[in-house]
Amino acid sequence: MPVIEVVNLSKKFRTNRKEPGIAGAVKALFRPVVQETAAVDGVRFTVEPGEVVGYIGVNGAGKSTTIKMLTGILEPTAGMVRVLGRDPHRQRVDNAREIGVVFGQRSQLWWDLAFIESLNLISKIYEIDPGRYRELLDQFCGMLDLGDLLRVPIRSMSLGQKMRAELTAALIHEPRIVYLDEPTIGLDLIVKERIREFIREQNKRNGTTVFLTTHDLGDIEKLCRRVIIIDAGRIIYDGPLTTIQERFGRYRTITFETAGFAATISLPPGVETAPQNPEDRKLILKFDRTKTTASKVASAVMDQIDVVDFSLAEPDLSSVVRQIYNGALKENVPP
Ligand SMILES: Nc1ncnc2c1ncn2[C@@H]1O[C@H](COP(=O)(O)OP(=O)(O)OP(=O)(O)O)[C@@H](O)[C@H]1O
Ligand SMILES: [Mg+2]
Repeated sequence: MPVIEVVNLSKKFRTNRKEPGIAGAVKALFRPVVQETAAVDGVRFTVEPGEVVGYIGVNGAGKSTTIKMLTGILEPTAGMVRVLGRDPHRQRVDNAREIGVVFGQRSQLWWDLAFIESLNLISKIYEIDPGRYRELLDQFCGMLDLGDLLRVPIRSMSLGQKMRAELTAALIHEPRIVYLDEPTIGLDLIVKERIREFIREQNKRNGTTVFLTTHDLGDIEKLCRRVIIIDAGRIIYDGPLTTIQERFGRYRTITFETAGFAATISLPPGVETAPQNPEDRKLILKFDRTKTTASKVASAVMDQIDVVDFSLAEPDLSSVVRQIYNGALKENVPP
């Protein structure tokens, strides 16, 4: 049974469009031009218990709007959302008990309270068993290194400290689903690593379902086996991360360091020379993995010229995702 079920989900926003200048403002006052944006446009997917799903797309693609509908903050314009069988907007209170939410761009904690006071309040609101609460607090303190932060009010925390506090607050009632909207934005590498480790651990230990949006592909690589890609409000990909890596990592680059200046050589089929500087004593070749292999390319080159060293570049996720964002998957948009 899926924990999240979304069918033809849409959200339209209506905004007043205004021409520039005072004349525009006056005109808009008397004859407002209403513009409609389909932020989310007929989205459909399901999430099974215990999955960690990466929900990615360019700025303005509709990720946060989707999360706001999943958490019940926004009411859909059309379509259906079910979270643990409930309508998250109509049954907001019941839904809230089962979910945790972190918006990386916005704090959800009491700004002036010491962090521990916020947590104590949350434990009362969610009626967490006092013994269990202490146990979890202890666990989270260890994993997120919270010790010194408990007495600090949120307003005096650094970004990285705040984010660790937010995560604790979102997960202390052991929700079944956690929504994370850019949880690592602006954080240094060490805090990022710690947060990823924490999320992974929560998923493993408790089977917590994780729905994650991020622009940091490191988050995706470390946490998600499945990704959903949204573009202009529509889903253009939903499937294993490895599938897109394989499909778009079709071309790979192999670089040879040559003993002499590169001479013209004949290349096997499926291989072409990449742009290069002949004075570098380097030969950079791009080959199609479906047509040939790295070892065939290497031996063909070494038969013809003196090679000192060579290296093979891994297909990196960021270039794969860049290709997809640039429209490489558009032909797959459902009608
Ligand atoms: N409250 C609102 N009123 C009007 N338009 C909105 C509102 N919220 C979002 N939008 C519009 O809906 C579209 C999707 O926005 P959304 O915040 O969901 O994008 P996103 O994928 O989260 O982007 P980002 O990566 O920048 O966070 C954008 O065009 C945005 O301008
Ligand atoms: Mg967003």
